[in-house]
Amino acid sequence: MTIKEIFDSMEYGPAPESAKEALAWIEAKGGMAGPFVNGKWGSLRADIESRNPATGERLAGLTKCTAAEVDAAVKAARKAQPGWWKAGAHARARILYAIARGMQKQSRLLAVIETLDNGKPIRESRDIDVPLAIRHFYHHAGLAQLLESERPGMVPHGVCGQIIPWNFPLLMLAWKIAPALAAGNTVVLKPAEYTSLSAMVFAEICAEAGVPPGVVNIVTGDGETGAALVAAEVDKIAFTGSTEVGRRIREATAGRGIPLTLELGGKSPYIVFDDADLDSAVEGLVDAIWFNQGQVCCAGSRLLVQEGVAERFYDKLTTRMDRLRVGDPLDKCIDVGAVVDPVQLRAITEMVDANTEGEVRRANVPMPANGCYYPPTLITGLSTSSPLMQEEIFGPVLVSTTFRTPDEAVELANNTRYGLAATLWSENVNLALGVAPRLKAGVVWVNGTNMFDAAAPFGGIRESGFGREGGWEGLGAYLRPDRRPSRLKPVAPYTGEGAPPAGIDRTAKLYIGGKQARPDGGYSRAVHGPKGALLGHVPLANRKDVRNAVEAAHAAKGWSGTTGHLRAQILYYLAENLSARADEFARRLKDMTGASGEAEVEASVRRLFTCAAWADKFDGEAKGVPLRGLALALREPVGAIGMLCPDEAPLLGLVSTVAPAIAMGNRVVAVASEPFPLAATDLYQVLETSDVPAGVVNILTGSHAELAPTLAGHLEVDAVWSFSSTDLSAGIEKASAGNLKRTWVDYGRARDWSGPEGEGRAFLDAATEVKTVWVPYGE
Ligand code: NAI
Repeated sequence: MTIKEIFDSMEYGPAPESAKEALAWIEAKGGMAGPFVNGKWGSLRADIESRNPATGERLAGLTKCTAAEVDAAVKAARKAQPGWWKAGAHARARILYAIARGMQKQSRLLAVIETLDNGKPIRESRDIDVPLAIRHFYHHAGLAQLLESERPGMVPHGVCGQIIPWNFPLLMLAWKIAPALAAGNTVVLKPAEYTSLSAMVFAEICAEAGVPPGVVNIVTGDGETGAALVAAEVDKIAFTGSTEVGRRIREATAGRGIPLTLELGGKSPYIVFDDADLDSAVEGLVDAIWFNQGQVCCAGSRLLVQEGVAERFYDKLTTRMDRLRVGDPLDKCIDVGAVVDPVQLRAITEMVDANTEGEVRRANVPMPANGCYYPPTLITGLSTSSPLMQEEIFGPVLVSTTFRTPDEAVELANNTRYGLAATLWSENVNLALGVAPRLKAGVVWVNGTNMFDAAAPFGGIRESGFGREGGWEGLGAYLRPDRRPSRLKPVAPYTGEGAPPAGIDRTAKLYIGGKQARPDGGYSRAVHGPKGALLGHVPLANRKDVRNAVEAAHAAKGWSGTTGHLRAQILYYLAENLSARADEFARRLKDMTGASGEAEVEASVRRLFTCAAWADKFDGEAKGVPLRGLALALREPVGAIGMLCPDEAPLLGLVSTVAPAIAMGNRVVAVASEPFPLAATDLYQVLETSDVPAGVVNILTGSHAELAPTLAGHLEVDAVWSFSSTDLSAGIEKASAGNLKRTWVDYGRARDWSGPEGEGRAFLDAATEVKTVWVPYGE
């Protein structure tokens, strides 16, 4: 081809990156990869093969670690952990910094190995995966340095089991390992079976950076190895992968008292309003759905385009699709590389082939004859219930529909069981910033897409999992307060045969939707004082009452849209009204428990003040991300929270759990102290006179053990907290797997409700989700 011809056609020639050094690196390891434990390579066996999906060639043999090998890695991590923590924040900061430097020095090797192993275009591994992973270690070196001054009283969990997927092998490794180490934990990480090689390079970098043996351990293998790691004696689990496996891990860890973070699938909407810069929005889509062949958990895989511009937009989009270059991932000019494995290619193909709706448009581009390639595809005109609109395809397939109004866009966008990310394009800042808070997603990108940074929290809501990665918010998942609480003994109710109180019988009811309601089942139980006196009767709520209360909580969703100022006013009013009846409540507490109730009432009033104070102060942050723009980490309410209130502190326990939740804009269904429920039922009148809108606080009485499974299994409940003195954590955590609701349970451990353990950040964190809204700026 002559130069003139090149100028005429503007065709790129191939510009392949050499695989020589990377292949030599693998060869030098004997073509094998396997566990890295206690600073050394373990047994290397070719139990599994790692192949290059672009060519089908074998890259290396991989050890599938057995449960015994996993346990040995956990032991090594356990042994190394105290030393790693005691070395201090600065020592850890220096080593994280050294890892970042080491990765920088090996950045080309890392990029090429990643591309060979995964099939992603070298442009992406070189310019996105590797730099972001390096930035993660630099950023966390800083967080480690600041940890002692910024998070006093917080300590690491211990040994973290971490399981990662194959779509961003090195980047996900960085997201997991950097915060864990910064916080003083040690780790056992399992890479995905298709893509373990960059973790091997990383292990070598760790050894060179001076990471002490046992601090970073890597076990290779498949799902069985992953399950063995979940079953091992670890103190925390962090998982990224499919929702199905995430659910299994939730069930497997139920009741074990180990914190869990899950970053799962998504079906993220990509909304184009009619005033958007359409050309930029088309270019954004290339990044949203064709980046990494669409194998991205937060891929903008569901296009929603406003009717008036739909045709024009589809025209531009299909024109752009036809110019995408699909082929050899090592070629620097390639836009779309190979899908990770024939298994994944089959899954994509079968899903798309099973569809009979809409119009399928495949990019009209030359496709490689061999290897795992799938053409960029657009499917328009699908109904909202089509499986392709609802299920994660995890391939380069974009599905689309149109909308008329912003309200309809929001409704369509939220019509999914997932809630990971959302993208919206509009030149109207009012519209964009008005719609962003209404989208059910952990991350919202405005006029851009797939932006990530170590400082900006990332993670989902609903069935996209829970927990955040990145920034202080992500680091928090690797820390716990420095307290070793004693076990809480189940608090039994008093019994007796005392005479009914004189005067008119006052039988309490339930409190649902702002009204006192009779229980569905028509059962109640007597409440006795310590000396057997009959104090009254309370209803025994059943499943139907739980369902009614949840419905009422949902009907009150306007509360989540109120201002912090308004919520503060109502909480102060509650405090005022409780204070006015302090003597009466103190007497009631004394009658029920035998102990003087004055201090508990006083503490409850104070706690209401604290929560009122926080209502308009638990703010988000603007993160300094390296682009011209802002990443706003906003605090949003979780939604409807079910609560099993502390038994031992009948009034203060209820106030300490309900008040922070409503202060943050949640609605609650609270089950009162089981043995001492009368302080809660007395509170109805205080709630009624304090302007708390109907349905914001619903109170049930009855058996914690009976009501917990209904609350935890209810698909319209977004979170369950349990501070019951009966340890119900296993059942709650297991049942929560259905819609992957958040849980916060005390595993039958004692908590001092009158002191700092009864309030503060932990409550506010549990009552909020962080939504990161990215707003780039500049003309
Ligand atoms: P996966 O969820 O099975 O694999 C992710 C990781 O979990 C791998 O390291 C795997 O070995 C491990 N694993 C598998 N079963 C396990 C178990 N029972 N216990 C512990 N660890 C286990 O994902 P897979 O099969 O590779 O992909 C299937 C689908 O999952 C994809 O088509 C995609 O829809 C989704 N996916 C989503 C990801 C995301 O980032 N949200 C990442 C990878 C897959």
